[in-house]
Amino acid sequence: MSSHETTGDTLDSPAETDTTTAPDIESTPSSGAERGGEWWRTAVIYQVYPRSFADADGDGVGDLPGITSRLDALADLGVDAVWLSPFYTSPQHDAGYDVADYVDVDPLFGTLDDFDALRARATELGLRLIVDLVPNHTSSEHAWFRAAVAAAPGSAERARYMFRDGTGPDGDLPPNNWQSVFGGPAWTRLVEPDGRPGQWYLHLFDTSQPDLDWTNPLVRSDFVDVLRFWLDRGVDGFRVDVAHGMIKADGLPDYTPPADAGSMGGGETADATPPYWAQDGVHEIYREWHQVLAEYPGDRVMVAEAWVEPLSKLAKWVRPDEMQQAFNFAYLETGWSATAIRRVVDQSIETFSSVGAPSTWVLSNHDVVRHASRLALTAENPQGHGIGPKSAGLPIAELGLARARAASAVMLALPGSAYLYQGEELGLPEAVDLPDESRQDPTWFRTEGERYGRDGCRVPIPWESGAPAFGFSATGASWLPQPEDWSTYARDEQQGVAGSTLELYRSALALRAEHELGAAHLTWVEGYDASVVAFRSGGVTVVANTGEVAVELPVGDVLLSTMALDGPALPPNAAVWLASVDDVG
Ligand code: NOJ
Repeated sequence: MSSHETTGDTLDSPAETDTTTAPDIESTPSSGAERGGEWWRTAVIYQVYPRSFADADGDGVGDLPGITSRLDALADLGVDAVWLSPFYTSPQHDAGYDVADYVDVDPLFGTLDDFDALRARATELGLRLIVDLVPNHTSSEHAWFRAAVAAAPGSAERARYMFRDGTGPDGDLPPNNWQSVFGGPAWTRLVEPDGRPGQWYLHLFDTSQPDLDWTNPLVRSDFVDVLRFWLDRGVDGFRVDVAHGMIKADGLPDYTPPADAGSMGGGETADATPPYWAQDGVHEIYREWHQVLAEYPGDRVMVAEAWVEPLSKLAKWVRPDEMQQAFNFAYLETGWSATAIRRVVDQSIETFSSVGAPSTWVLSNHDVVRHASRLALTAENPQGHGIGPKSAGLPIAELGLARARAASAVMLALPGSAYLYQGEELGLPEAVDLPDESRQDPTWFRTEGERYGRDGCRVPIPWESGAPAFGFSATGASWLPQPEDWSTYARDEQQGVAGSTLELYRSALALRAEHELGAAHLTWVEGYDASVVAFRSGGVTVVANTGEVAVELPVGDVLLSTMALDGPALPPNAAVWLASVDDVG
C-alpha cells in the first residue's frame, strides 16, 4: 500500500456533488423479504457460458460437470452468484437459446443429476445460482412447434405460435416487413402437411426459433410450470431472455427500424418503439411471475434482458411487483469517455432508484464484443457488433486491456449489482481472427458473412497455459479455436501474480465487500478535468482517467490501482481506488 499527497488546491479539498436521489419506492415488494435481506441488490453475478467454460468429457463443448469441477475458482474470485446461460435440450442452432425442452438438460451438457450436483456444490461454496429462461421463442424442434406444423391452420396447436397467412396474390409474401435480429426476414413460410405452401410463422431471431404467442393462456401456464420446475430444484432465480419481446402490437403493423438501431436491440431506439419490442402487455406476465417467485422461500430474483431505451422506459421492468433487476445496457454501450460515464451512472442510479430497484452494471456478455477490445474500437466501428479480421478500426490490444481494467475498476465500485462475463477477469480480448469456417453464430450465416456476429466473445476460456486447450478440455478439443497467445491469459499464469488482471478483480471484489460498496452512496468529486471520473463511495475515492494526459491524484492510501503508479499521478487509461481522505489516519 502506498500513500501520497497532491499539491493542487482543488484536489486536496474536492468539492462534492450529490447527484443521486433517495429511493422513491412506490410500493412494497410482495415477497415480504426484508430489503436488507435481498442479496441481489448488491451482488456480483458471474455469467457462465456453459459451452465455453470447462469441458469435462473432452468433446470440445463445455458441460455441467466441467462447471462443477471449476466452481471453486469462482468462489475464490469472490463473486456472490453464478448465472448459467442455457444448458437445456436444444439443437444448438443459437447456442442453446433455441430450447426444445425447458425441463431437461441437453446430453451435450450432461443430465439433470449433473445439474443437481452443480447446484449442491454451489451451495457448499456459498454461491447463488441463476438460470436462463428463454420464453420469447422455442426451438423449431420443440414438441409444441412440431405439433403446430403437423396441425391445420386455425388449430389450437398453431395458436401457441405466431402463424399468419401470407400477403400477395398467393399468400407468397410475408405477413409484414419485419426483419430478424440476426438479419433477413422475420417470417418463414411452411410447407403444409399436404405438400402445398402454407402459412408463415414469425421468428424475430433464427428460422429455428419460432416466436410463441403470449396472448395464449396455455403458453402462460406452461411457463409457470417451467418456473416452478427450476425453483423446486433450488435455483435462486432467472435471467429472462428477450424480456421486451414477448408481446407484439395488435395487427402486427409494418416497421422499418432507424439506421442507427443497435443489432441486439433489433430496432429499438430512444425515439422509436418497434411493434415487436417493449409493448405494455409484457408487464402483466412479469407480475404473475413475481407472485410465483414470492411463493418460494429466500429471495428469488428475475433479471430482464431487455434492450430498451431510454433507461426511464427500462425502469418499468423493475417496478416493485415485476422483475428485481434489468441489465443496464445503456452502461455497457457507453464508450471510454468520462462525461458519458458520469451521465449514464447518474441516470442509472436516479432512474432505478425511482422505482426502488438497484442499478445493475455490466460491461461484457456473450452477445457483445468483449470490453477489453470494444473500449479501444475507433470511430469507424464504435460499438463493434461483432468484429473479425476484415473489420474497420480494429482495437490495439494493450490499449483495450488498459481501458478494460480501468472500466472494470470503476464498475466494481458502483452501488448496486454488477455482472461479470466469464474470462473478463482474465482480461480476455475478443478473438478476432477466427477462421470463417469455424464461425457458428446464426448472424454470420443469415447475413452471408456481412456481420461477423458473436463467436469472438464465446471462445472457450484458458485455465492452464501448458495444458491441451489451455485446460478447457483434457483432449485439447474446443468448439471454437482458441488463439495461440491465450496461454498468456490463462488463469494459472495470473493466479497470485501481483498486477495481473485476475488479481485486480480479486482485490476489487474483496475491497468491494469490505467497504460494502454495493450498498454505499455515491458522491461525485468535482475539480477535475472533464476527462476524469471521480467519486467517493463507502470510504473509497475512485479516480479514472479517460483522457490523454496524467492527472494529479488526491491524498489517500492506494487500495487498488489498474496501472503501476509513479508518484501521485494517474496515467491515461487507468483507475485507482484510494482510501478517502476522511478515513486516512
Ligand atoms: C438474447 C441472447 O442473449 C442471445 O444470445 C440470443 O441469441 C437471443 N436472445 C435470442 O434468444
